[in-house]
Amino acid sequence: MRLDKLLSNMGIGSRKDVKTLLKKKQVTVNGAVVKDNAMKVDPESDEIAVNGEIIRYRKYIYLMMNKAPGYVSATTDAREKTVIDLLGEDVRHFNPFPVGRLDKDTEGLLLLTNDGDLAHQLVSPKKNVGKTYFARIDGNVSEADIRTFREGVVLEDGYQAKPGELVILRNGETSEIEVTITEGKFHQVKRMFEAVGKKVIYLKRLSMGELKLDNNLKLGNYRELTESELAYCLSLKSEA
Ligand code: URA
Repeated sequence: MRLDKLLSNMGIGSRKDVKTLLKKKQVTVNGAVVKDNAMKVDPESDEIAVNGEIIRYRKYIYLMMNKAPGYVSATTDAREKTVIDLLGEDVRHFNPFPVGRLDKDTEGLLLLTNDGDLAHQLVSPKKNVGKTYFARIDGNVSEADIRTFREGVVLEDGYQAKPGELVILRNGETSEIEVTITEGKFHQVKRMFEAVGKKVIYLKRLSMGELKLDNNLKLGNYRELTESELAYCLSLKSEA
């Protein structure tokens, strides 16, 4: 790959910034000063340094975010703040995008990556990756709702949702539940409850497959996946 592309992908600066660095003899490849921005380098085997600091090349980034309410799950939006606005410049240059969508008012686990294959595996209904949500519901949730969810709720547009596992945590004027579903249709959890005559008043995603929301992450914060979390994600990719 081109040297200037590698350096700008790694967040060193724009291609123009990189050109300036090269001119100033601040870039070395395998110990030798390089001035040619179009030089072809092998990120795996060549040692590239800027001001003596070795640049570790990586193509992909995998971030776990605790999505804050008020942000849309998109990379750009004309009116709304997006989850990308919550990211620092040091990770933004990888051009990550959210895997699947959480509504503007939904909180919780959101994976952001620039690995399109992985994103596809996690959201594909064929993969049966369970997504578990915690929700507060206005009113009582019944045993009949559990059965209806298990059989597959028919949504208002006639679509029969895949079976969902509903667990009642607390029943009352406001009830608390956990629900696990394997698809991610638009407003799916809210629409499943609407189909049984109930309203979701708070929604938070807790997990996607074996990926669990890190409770230490405050709303709007994020971190890179740990090695074991990443290994799990990559195992989904290799099964594909
Ligand atoms: N289901 C919803 O209704 N909203 C979300 O944000 C996620 C799942």
